[in-house]
Amino acid sequence: MTKKVAFLLIALMLVFVACNPSTGEAPQPASEGVTAEPGLDANQPTGMGMGPGSGMMARHHAKIPDEYAGLENPMLASEDSLGRGAELYSTYCASCHGDGGMGDGPAGQVLDPLPAPVAHTSRMLGDDYLFWRISEGGTHEPFASAMPRWQDVLDDDARWDVINYVRALGSGQIMPGQRVGGAAFDAEAEAAKHDAMAAAGVQQGILTQEEADTFLAVHAEMDTLMAAGMEEQDGGMENMQTVMLARLVGDGRITQENADVFSNVHERLLAAGLME
Ligand code: HEC
Repeated sequence: MTKKVAFLLIALMLVFVACNPSTGEAPQPASEGVTAEPGLDANQPTGMGMGPGSGMMARHHAKIPDEYAGLENPMLASEDSLGRGAELYSTYCASCHGDGGMGDGPAGQVLDPLPAPVAHTSRMLGDDYLFWRISEGGTHEPFASAMPRWQDVLDDDARWDVINYVRALGSGQIMPGQRVGGAAFDAEAEAAKHDAMAAAGVQQGILTQEEADTFLAVHAEMDTLMAAGMEEQDGGMENMQTVMLARLVGDGRITQENADVFSNVHERLLAAGLME
């Protein structure tokens, strides 16, 4: 995984964490590329809002119903699965979520809330959350969205195939189909945004340059950890960031102080509205 992808994951993760200061949430490696590796399994819920005040927090904290909680994707993210997922996604999802899964499909732009950038969020969301959301859609609280319910249209296997596909899209390792519209995942642009976010924090006097540097350096370490493939965490994203930071400290890659600065910085960036 590239550094940029990790930046992006982490930034999302930070958004999640920030909406629940007592827990850390984090991403997990998603799956493969065209070359089918076993799906690493991602984890965790959330929607990504378009900023503070959006429905992201409510979505994120929605309790996964018992019948879904803990479900794991039984479908290996093989080339076959991704191929089927690609077809399904183009047919049923891209109009709203966009070819690249960035939430920017042509039919989605008039919706409130907007379609989630599933290529991103799926990498941090648990199998159970994704399967639940795709199965049941968003007509109920706390979602109250136009996200359709798919369980009567797509059987279980098809829903897992499409989950494999959106995660692969978010890895930047497969090319989106170009049938409907919407931008492709752009890891570099995302990374640039996060650098800019830290820079803005410094400029606005929210962070010292040193804090910004530490923040970005810890991001980079997390990236390495993610690239190496984090195994599944109990509690999914709820404690992923905490786990990652603790692991990096334990491995001597960062100091406890770095970890504390990191957590503190992102809370401040968030509070300042700089965390997109
Ligand atoms: C009519 C537009 C529309 C279509 C078609 C659609 N979605 Fe969505 N989807 C949304 C909206 C709007 C949201 C955000 C609100 C919500 O979470 O309910 C969403 C949310 C989601 C989420 C939750 C992501 C998160 O970050 O919380 C997933 C997963 C998802 N969609 C997958 C799919 C898949 C897979 C398909 C195709 C089988 C699909 N959607 C088709 C509109 C759509």
